[in-house]
Amino acid sequence: MKWKNDAGRTLIGTMAGRIGCDVSILGRVDEIRDLGGVSFLMVTDRSGTCQIVADPYLDIPSIQSIVKVSGTVAASEKAPGGFEMAAKNLLIVSEPVREMPFNPARIPTPLKEGGPNLETVLNHRGLSLRAQSCQAVARVTSQALRAVENFFHERDFTEIKTSKLVGGGTEGGSGMFEVKYFERIAYLAQSPQLYKQALATTPLERVFEIGPVFRAEKFATGRHINEFTGIDTEISYPEGMHDLMDLEEDLLNAVIEHLAGKCGREIAALCTTLPRINGEIPRLELDRVKEILTGVKPSRLKPAEDLSPDEERLICEWSAREYGCDAVFVHSFPTGRRPFYTMPQENRKKSQSFDLILRGLEISSGCIRIHKADQLIQNIEKQGLKPESLKAYLEIFQFGCPPHGGFGLGLERLVQKLLDLPNIRHATLFPRDRNRLEP
Ligand code: 4AD
Ligand code: MG
Repeated sequence: MKWKNDAGRTLIGTMAGRIGCDVSILGRVDEIRDLGGVSFLMVTDRSGTCQIVADPYLDIPSIQSIVKVSGTVAASEKAPGGFEMAAKNLLIVSEPVREMPFNPARIPTPLKEGGPNLETVLNHRGLSLRAQSCQAVARVTSQALRAVENFFHERDFTEIKTSKLVGGGTEGGSGMFEVKYFERIAYLAQSPQLYKQALATTPLERVFEIGPVFRAEKFATGRHINEFTGIDTEISYPEGMHDLMDLEEDLLNAVIEHLAGKCGREIAALCTTLPRINGEIPRLELDRVKEILTGVKPSRLKPAEDLSPDEERLICEWSAREYGCDAVFVHSFPTGRRPFYTMPQENRKKSQSFDLILRGLEISSGCIRIHKADQLIQNIEKQGLKPESLKAYLEIFQFGCPPHGGFGLGLERLVQKLLDLPNIRHATLFPRDRNRLEP
């Protein structure tokens, strides 16, 4: 092995166990307090924060400087973590060259009253990501991804990466971004839908993809961004849509369990708690949801159409009250409201589709797909699309196609709701929205 991996440097997270030792640390100064001649510096590296006691004869850096400090570790009841270091040597590696727009150390839990507002935080994202709360979100996201990958690999899924430059759309409704592609126009993929179907219907049978998804939607809300990370999966031979909901329920439970074990510090720093599932996630037909919320049963002639954001919130509150569960599956949406690839139920009015709602927000949609060529072509035409434009996709149905299905889950919405953040942008490193293309 060649990489020296922290040789010559002590990680702050190990200092509590090295009282009396001489160490040298590297990190960022995120707070300075002057107490009558002596300065206390808080220095942070990836493993923790240490209080440094610095005599006036040392060159005292300004906040956000990068420093190399050496000295002896001492026990201290007053210092955070129960230890501190008396600096013998302090080398300033890099210093701010002008006044900062705000001090990242002052960004509180996202985003309680008192900190800089969200626009400022996002305008200076490179700086705000230094804040403890933003760091915590980034680490939780990383662990959530790891849990998702472990979950699928343990169940014999193959990880795929499919092209994001495509010739046409898949999800209807939401718009597509155009890109100049030599002499032609290409689009940024709205989902890996058609590719994951093509792959799951080969002998791979079970696939998942984690990748960028683009939606040219003009919404300006706390739950929409125009580029997000899709966690998509697709399997052959599901035993109906409840089988897919079982899979997704297990996935959500696995992610929550993993985070509870790995991210206690981050979750505490964010002053939040993970959602409660309490066993199983309740599953309700859309019609039943409407009945619960309005007290009126939708009639056969006028079935319920869709859920509004308010209804998503209210049915989740109901699930929390009745079942002690912060999530709920809503299923059996009307056929016309779902994409062309969605399998209808026996009665044809409703489809074999479902949404997963977590803490009041849709975080995922899924369904059993149509796997018969004629039925699919009919449906494509019914939705006003042209089968010719989907020729290569249609081929997979014309030469023997297993029944299949899957779901797509938005990573940023998942993290937003796992951590109960007020806006999806807090769960996005560099968000893209209607008004923001930078930084
Ligand atoms: O509900 P959607 O549009 O479903 C699909 O893309 C299907 N291909 C899935 C399938 O397998 N049938 O998107 C899936 C998820 C949403 O539930 C949401 O979490 C996220 O993607 N999503 C967004 N996240 C942030 N901003 C947006 N504008 C989003 N649009 C969808
Ligand atoms: Mg959806």
